[in-house]
Amino acid sequence: MNKLVEVLPDQAALVQRALDVVLDKIRQAIAERGQCTIALAGGSTPKPLYEKLAVQDLPWRGIHVFWGDERYVPPDHPDSNQGMARRAWLDQVPIPTANIHPMSTDEADPAIAASQHEAELEEFFQVQPGEFPTFDIILLGIGDDGHTASLFPHTEALQVRDRLVTVGNKDGQPRLTFTAPLINHANTVVFMVAGAGKRHALGEIFAADADATTYPARLIQPQGELWWLLDQAAGEGIGG
Ligand code: 6PG
Repeated sequence: MNKLVEVLPDQAALVQRALDVVLDKIRQAIAERGQCTIALAGGSTPKPLYEKLAVQDLPWRGIHVFWGDERYVPPDHPDSNQGMARRAWLDQVPIPTANIHPMSTDEADPAIAASQHEAELEEFFQVQPGEFPTFDIILLGIGDDGHTASLFPHTEALQVRDRLVTVGNKDGQPRLTFTAPLINHANTVVFMVAGAGKRHALGEIFAADADATTYPARLIQPQGELWWLLDQAAGEGIGG
C-alpha cells in the first residue's frame, strides 16, 4: 500500500485536488487498459467533485461508473447516492447508459439486492465467486463516527470477508455496501474528508492502535494507492 496524505487549505482546494487525482487516474487507466472503472462515494462531500467532472471533456465511452454504497431507497429519493451523482454529473455528460452500474434497490429484501449486484460485478469483471475484482478508482468519505461506504461501527458488514457486496446497517436502516476486501483490491482509493466534525474520527483512524470495528475506515488498507485528501478543518494535526 502506498499511502498519500494531503491537507488542503479549504474544501474548494480539496475538491480541486481530488479532481486532479481522479482525472489523472482515469486517463492512466484508459491509456493502459482502454477503460476505467470508478466507484463513487455518496454523501455531500463529493458532490462538488461530481459537478466538476460534469464539465470535463473525457472519453466517456471508456468510463464505467459504479457506487461503493447505496441507501436502500429508490433512485429518485433525495437520499439516493445514485440520484445525487446522476443530477450532479452523469445526466450532464454523454456517457453511455450501459456504462452506469447502479446498485438496484428494487428488491424488498436488501440481501437479495446485494447478491444481485455482486453477480453483476462478477459478470462485468469476469471473475469467479470468491475472487475480488480490481476497480481502478474507489472514492470514499468518512462519517463523524469513522464509518466509510456503509461499513458502520460494530455492524455485521465489517466481518464479511468472502463477498463483494453486503448489507450495511445505519441505525436500523439497510444500506448496500462494498465489503472491505473488495475496496482493498482497488488500484486507487481516494478519501475526501472535510470539516472539523471529522477531526476526531480521523485522529482515531490514523492512530497507531484504535479499534477498527469502532472506526471502520481503518479497515481500508488497499493493495494500491491510498489517498487521504483532507481540508484544514478536518486534517489539522494529522500526520502522514
Ligand atoms: C453515504 C456515503 C458515506 C459518506 C460519509 C460522509 O452513503 O453516506 O457513502 O460513507 O461518504 O457518510 O458523508 P458526507 O460527505 O456527507 O460527510
